[in-house]
Amino acid sequence: MEYTRISDANLITEKYMDSILIEERLIDSVVADIKTSFFGAEFDMPVMMPAFSHLKNYNGRPHTGLEEYSMAAKECNILNFCGMMENEQFKKLVDTGAKTVRIVKPYADNGKVRDQMQYAESIGAFGIGMDIDHIFGENGPDVVMGEEMAEQTSEMLRSYVDNTKLPFVIKGVLSVQDAVKSADIGAKAIIVSHHHGRLPYAVPPMMILPKIKEALKGRDVKIIVDCGIAGGADVFKALALGADACAVGRSMLPSLEKDGVEGVKEFIRKVGNELRYIMSFTGFSKVSDIDDSVLYKM
Ligand SMILES: Cc1cc2nc3c(=O)[nH]c(=O)nc-3n(C[C@H](O)[C@H](O)[C@H](O)COP(=O)(O)O)c2cc1C
Repeated sequence: MEYTRISDANLITEKYMDSILIEERLIDSVVADIKTSFFGAEFDMPVMMPAFSHLKNYNGRPHTGLEEYSMAAKECNILNFCGMMENEQFKKLVDTGAKTVRIVKPYADNGKVRDQMQYAESIGAFGIGMDIDHIFGENGPDVVMGEEMAEQTSEMLRSYVDNTKLPFVIKGVLSVQDAVKSADIGAKAIIVSHHHGRLPYAVPPMMILPKIKEALKGRDVKIIVDCGIAGGADVFKALALGADACAVGRSMLPSLEKDGVEGVKEFIRKVGNELRYIMSFTGFSKVSDIDDSVLYKM
C-alpha cells in the first residue's frame, strides 16, 4: 500500500482562523457602521467578491455564475473581482455595472496578458492585476485549461503597472518579500492568499498578515485577504490583524448555485451583518478603528 501524507493548506488555514478568539467591549459601544472606501470609491462593506473563473450557468438560468455574482456585487455595492477569462466574458461582467477588478493570468503569451489588461482598461475596469500564484505547476510552468503560464519578473510586473492608469493588484502574496516587491513595483493593492491551497503547508494568510502589515507601513498599498473567508467573524479577524478588506471564496458557491443573484446578495448581506454585530460587540464603531487589541490566540 502506498503511503501519502497530504497537506491541506485549507484545513491548516481554517484551524488557524478558528484559534483566534474575540473579547467583548459593550459599555459605551454603539451599532457599528461597516461602510468602507477603497481606491477612492465608497462601498457598503469591506467584503469583496472572489476572482473566480469558469462558472457555468446554474440550474438552467440565463446568466453564468460569473455574471450572477457580478450583478449581486453591483446590488450590494461591494467591489467585484474576476479571474481567467476571455475579453468577451469580461465585457459581460463590466456590463452588469459592478466595479470590477480584472485579474489576468500570468500567460506565457505575454501579448495576451497585455491585450487583456489594455482591453479591461478600455471598457471601464475598476482595476487590473495578476494572480502570481499560478505561475508554477507540478511540471514547471503551470498549464491552466491548456494555456501555459510563465515566470514573472519584477520588471515585467512593473511594466504592467506603468502601462495603466488603473490601480494594479497583485494576487497571491504570501510573504513579506513579495509584499515589499509589490509595493516597490507600484502595486496599489495585494491579495494575501494561497489561492485555496495551491502551496502545500502554505502559511495561513491571517498568520502572516501582521508581518506584511508592518512591512508595508507608510506605503500606499491596500491589503486584501482571502482563503477560507466564510463569515463576518473571519472578516473581523482579518481586519483586526491588518487587512483593509476580505474577499469571500468558495463559501459563496452554494448560495450562488442554488439561488443565483438573490442567493449571493443574501449571503453577502449576512456576512456584512455578522461583521457589524461583532464590531458592535467589540466597541469598534467604524471599520478603520478595528485593531487587534480584542484578539486572543488559543
Ligand atoms: C471556481 C474557481 C475559480 C477560480 N478562478 C480564479 C482565477 O481565475 N484567478 C484567480 O486569481 N483566482 C481564482 N480562484 C481563486 C479565488 O479567487 C480565491 O483566491 C480562492 O477561492 C480563495 O480560497 P477559498 O475559496 O478557500 O476562500 C478561483 C477559485 C475557484 C473556486
